[in-house]
Amino acid sequence: MMRHAMTERSKAADRDARRPMDEHLVSLVNPSSFEADQYRTIRHVLEQSHAAKKVIAVTSAAAGDGKTTTALNLAGVLAQAPDARILIVDLDLRMPAVGDRLGLTVQSPGLVDLLSDPALALDDAVRRLHQSRLAVLPAGRALTVPYEVLKSPRLGELLQAATGQFDYVILDTPPLAAVQDARLIVDWVDGFVMVVAAHRTPRKLLEDALNLMDPAKLIGLVFNGDDRRRSGYYGDYYGSSKGKRRGWWRTGNGSGNGRGSGNGHGQRASVLDTALRAVLGRPR
Ligand SMILES: Nc1ncnc2c1ncn2[C@@H]1O[C@H](COP(=O)(O)OP(=O)(O)OP(=O)(O)O)[C@@H](O)[C@H]1O
Ligand SMILES: [Mg+2]
Repeated sequence: MMRHAMTERSKAADRDARRPMDEHLVSLVNPSSFEADQYRTIRHVLEQSHAAKKVIAVTSAAAGDGKTTTALNLAGVLAQAPDARILIVDLDLRMPAVGDRLGLTVQSPGLVDLLSDPALALDDAVRRLHQSRLAVLPAGRALTVPYEVLKSPRLGELLQAATGQFDYVILDTPPLAAVQDARLIVDWVDGFVMVVAAHRTPRKLLEDALNLMDPAKLIGLVFNGDDRRRSGYYGDYYGSSKGKRRGWWRTGNGSGNGRGSGNGHGQRASVLDTALRAVLGRPR
């Protein structure tokens, strides 16, 4: 009995063991920085204009655009609000990264376990980060073909349960254009944040990705000025090239003032066009 209790205790300790977080998670490692402030703009838009949207997917057209970085930083700034209860969920089941980037050394049980074992409840897999109002649901393990698991109605039930416990549920998702996985979650999501990689995301791919979603659900585009060829990325982008700061965030209606968004299929063309023009310039 005693032995069992000790094993359970040490298991729990293992589960909570942490490495340092990824340094790109500015809103968690350096919340008062200028870079973290950029993510607060998205929080402001969410809180002011989309208060009813609770389940927010961060997605992008292609791999490596910066979805996970953006999702974690957005969750981090949301968690700075007093009494906030924020959950970040890793829905990129082929290439899970959330737990690892947050420094979790043990990734399971996670979402995959919850989806495949109805006896498990959300609380069995959600981990609260020490000294933070952020909780995390890691993927648990990677799946080669997550399609069937993501198709399960249990995903909707779990997200529904999560909205009862958390103010915002932020989903890190796979790229929209590459695989079907992200398309399976469209129905469960109240709003999308679309990450666009500066100088990288092809316009056509972005158009296709935006076309997959209901424009009323598009909260805005994040212009991730990723330029890893240069050193000291943040310094370069936000520091020396200050002019570039404009335009990294656009709401769905392209007004850039943090208000409003597309509101219905009828407006799809103009919403997309304005949003695309806002981040990519006029078509050449
Ligand atoms: N703003 C940024 N500044 C510096 N590095 C960044 C930034 N955004 C992303 N990166 C780096 O680029 C790489 C890819 O970013 P990230 O994992 O966030 O992209 P992703 O869209 O989630 O990729 P995937 O499609 O593979 O899941 C990571 O190494 C990340 O640290
Ligand atoms: Mg990712």
